[in-house]
Amino acid sequence: MDKVISISPSTLSKLIANKELFLLFDLRSQEKYNHGHITGASHAVCDSKTKETIMPKIPKNVKIILVDDDGTVSKETAEMMRTMQFDSYYLDGGMNNWNGNIVSGSISDSISSVDLWKKLNDKDEYDNLLLLDVREPEEYADFRIAGSINLPLQELTKKENLDNLPHDKQIITICPHGNRAKIASFMLENNNIESKTLKGGLANWNQVLIDRKDGDSDPLIIQVHKIGKGCLSHIVVSEKEAVVIDPLYPIEKYLEISTSEGFKITKVLNTHQHADHISAANDLAQISGAEWYESGYESWDFPTKFLKDKDVIKFGNSFLKVIHTPGHTPGSLCYLVNDKYLFTGDILFIESVGRPDLRDKIYDFSHDLYHSLHNKIFKLPLKVNIYPTHHGESVSPNKYGIYKATIEIARKNKILELSENDFVNEIVKISTPRPKNYTRIIQINKGVIPLLQEEIPNLELGPNRCSIQ
Ligand SMILES: [Fe+2]
Repeated sequence: MDKVISISPSTLSKLIANKELFLLFDLRSQEKYNHGHITGASHAVCDSKTKETIMPKIPKNVKIILVDDDGTVSKETAEMMRTMQFDSYYLDGGMNNWNGNIVSGSISDSISSVDLWKKLNDKDEYDNLLLLDVREPEEYADFRIAGSINLPLQELTKKENLDNLPHDKQIITICPHGNRAKIASFMLENNNIESKTLKGGLANWNQVLIDRKDGDSDPLIIQVHKIGKGCLSHIVVSEKEAVVIDPLYPIEKYLEISTSEGFKITKVLNTHQHADHISAANDLAQISGAEWYESGYESWDFPTKFLKDKDVIKFGNSFLKVIHTPGHTPGSLCYLVNDKYLFTGDILFIESVGRPDLRDKIYDFSHDLYHSLHNKIFKLPLKVNIYPTHHGESVSPNKYGIYKATIEIARKNKILELSENDFVNEIVKISTPRPKNYTRIIQINKGVIPLLQEEIPNLELGPNRCSIQ
């Protein structure tokens, strides 16, 4: 077995010199790798998690050479990988036996989600970017960064695919957590194509919050946008007193804005029990010392205050009226501020309406949704601005980056012209998959299951799916 899967230092030197296509993984510690590694080697961790999640995605049609200190762990790993049909080898004697070139530092560069967002919003930088998503096609079809292209990791071993990649663009490699993307960047680098990996992958991208002010009058509305997921939350400030509606993690964003704008968060509320993201209401209320309110028509295992239809909350010189609008959930509430600004949660979006099927009573909820829309929201003046809790991929923000519309615009939707029965018959045909992990997310948001903060990125990985389209 040794003779078959071991590679001598001189053979490895020749492979490097001849620029042959192979993957060279250094299994030593990150510290040792950074201190000095063989030219072209990528740092790799081989544990049970890697074996389960990353190895199945590594190409099997390319030679893999493993390196460690002395050729012991690398030999075991190469043998194990052989049982998984990899063409794997190990460097005989490891780094102790290597006299060839050594380089230091990290081989592939990375870019943070926030920096990528900045580039995507700069016209010149955007034109110069190529977002290369190296996940499998079904993963890409489910959820992706807008504008990215899909080339699964396995496909990067094909010369024609590499030749087709533009050499004049900044390539960003993307995967769920950054592991496959690192291998992709490594494979590109071996073919003289520069790239950066998206640090922390899509799980990290999904946790970035961006804030924008909608004007500068009182009340001031600040929209906080979870860019990767299309979740929207809102801070409404009147005379330095703020109400936060549908707060998202990470809550540091709200605390930063509160400090920079000089207001105090006094009330924290949700429009409904969310199914696609973890609500930050509990933590934000505790840290900011604010009062925490939830819908009085839903069950909660938290000691919150409850809101019912027609309740009024005063803050600064403004007031917020509660409107019970069941349909998406039984307890969904809309909040009307100063009779001008309506926070619609997941009942009415700019381009769609909320899905009524996440609580298993789709017919009843569809009728409720119809009545909430037609007999409550559409009875308000048409010029009232709506601020929903999500936006779809097809919707663009206004020129200031804000997602909002008047009721007049939002109701220009064919489904909203239907009679009640036709509306219900249309809505129950919904075929959009349910949000990932939605039952667990609901249980956490209700307070039935305790939240582990480190769970949030993985629980929220994936698109928002709260509308019917
Ligand atoms: Fe929702």
